[in-house]
Amino acid sequence: MASYLFLGVAVSFTFIVTDVFANDTLLIPEDLLLGAATASYQIEGAWNEDGKGENIWDRWTHSNPNLINNGSNGDVACDSYHKYKEDVQLLNELGVNFYRFSISWSRIIPSGYTNVINEKGLNYYKNLINELLAKGIEPFVTLYHWSHPQFLEEMGGWTNEMMVEWISDYARIIFKELGPKVKYFATINEPHVFCGEGYGMGLKAPGKKLGSPGIFECMHNVLKAHATIYHIYNEEFREHQKGKIGIIIPCTGALPKNPNETEAVDMHFQFNCAWIAHPIFSKTGDYPTIMKIHVAENSKLDGFPRSLLPEFTPEWVQYIKGTSDFFGLNHYSSKLVEIVPRAEGQKWYAYSGVKESVDPSWPKSASPWLRVVPSGFREIIKKIAREYNNPPIYVTENGFSDKCCTSDYSRISYLHSYIKAMLLAIYEDGCNVKAYTVWSLLDNFEWESGYSVRFGLVYVNFTDSNRTRTPKWSMNWYKNIIATRILNSTLDSPTGMLEAPKKRGTSERRRERRIRTTTST
Ligand code: NOJ
Repeated sequence: MASYLFLGVAVSFTFIVTDVFANDTLLIPEDLLLGAATASYQIEGAWNEDGKGENIWDRWTHSNPNLINNGSNGDVACDSYHKYKEDVQLLNELGVNFYRFSISWSRIIPSGYTNVINEKGLNYYKNLINELLAKGIEPFVTLYHWSHPQFLEEMGGWTNEMMVEWISDYARIIFKELGPKVKYFATINEPHVFCGEGYGMGLKAPGKKLGSPGIFECMHNVLKAHATIYHIYNEEFREHQKGKIGIIIPCTGALPKNPNETEAVDMHFQFNCAWIAHPIFSKTGDYPTIMKIHVAENSKLDGFPRSLLPEFTPEWVQYIKGTSDFFGLNHYSSKLVEIVPRAEGQKWYAYSGVKESVDPSWPKSASPWLRVVPSGFREIIKKIAREYNNPPIYVTENGFSDKCCTSDYSRISYLHSYIKAMLLAIYEDGCNVKAYTVWSLLDNFEWESGYSVRFGLVYVNFTDSNRTRTPKWSMNWYKNIIATRILNSTLDSPTGMLEAPKKRGTSERRRERRIRTTTST
């Protein structure tokens, strides 16, 4: 064990090994699907090939290289447009149940208007899906992972309510063309992030700095768009395609900075996760009441004539409510939270009255926003279960960033501690988690951080024109988890290359389903 600790320190500069060596063994429930994820702009490359139109990330990275680490872009990225068969082969080796990837909207509909449909773009995804299915891997398709056609941005993008129609036209084409072979769809990935950083703060494409009005408008249109796509699927495709469809919400965990600060924890949740979740998953629908009150009060204090939070008509409230077959949860990290007095000139993220900080003892990753806090994962799963009547939760992203190599012991340690926290939420708290997804299959273009941080289970050499892929230790470790469906208390080998046990019989499996020990995180 001492040598493992040494390796952990050696390969991870700042990382402190967490609870990997805790004395317990947990089984992965038989009906919990395991997968890995990517997104089109982050891996595909081929930005202007075979009729693809320009999208907002093409435009943003080409015209603002100074705002992206090292001036990089996704022109080639992992070159998955040409190397998708290799990617599927890696997924096959990993043994995943499903692969979550996203469609590049402008590859299919170059301008955003459906008068022109690019068959070559459609064929790329058809081939990818066929390749996956041939290997027994379910495709899990995200319709919108932050890249829409640039032309639609010229028309206002997510600040124009017409986006609801434009994305619905696109979704209908995807359902018609790809839906017969796809059982899992996500509508929109992490609205908070692209609305906040892309429209509010100008950190991500399309680089608009519209502040609070921009982000509130964007989120409002996203909710309408999501619900409309859901209803299209429900009414026109579900009967034949029999798939599931939902939205993906980034929920940061919250732990009280001071004991008993439960109000801060709840307030943080209502302004973070619930902004999108409450209108869809709550019994009443609409934005959380506390959010409506706070935004109205703060807008008034800041001199606005009305609340910056737009209102839904009763018809929209009803139309949005219940539009998800699962709760798509992206979770990476947590914050300490406390209630603070109002400051002058607040931004939307301070309207909650909650201040975020981190515990300096929480281990770091290569991303400043990502600290290792597995207990926060368990808490957020519990909170979602409690707030929304225990919906099926699909963890659609969870992962760790570093800056190096294939000997990624830090990633193994992170994944171990987070999967353990999730299993405890299932076994001890009765939460209904049905899927878990590692972000990411491959090292890839991490938005404004470029290629400077790596999230992959597979190392990609970005200086090699062939974009050579090399499995990391974490890939072997995850492969073993998938094969054995057991989360071991210790890592028997730092490479993660454990022997898969022989297939167990039904009675044996039934016996094993109990938790052997239940030490908490
Ligand atoms: C969430 C996003 O969906 C994904 O695109 C991103 O790379 C990861 N978080 C890591 O930052």
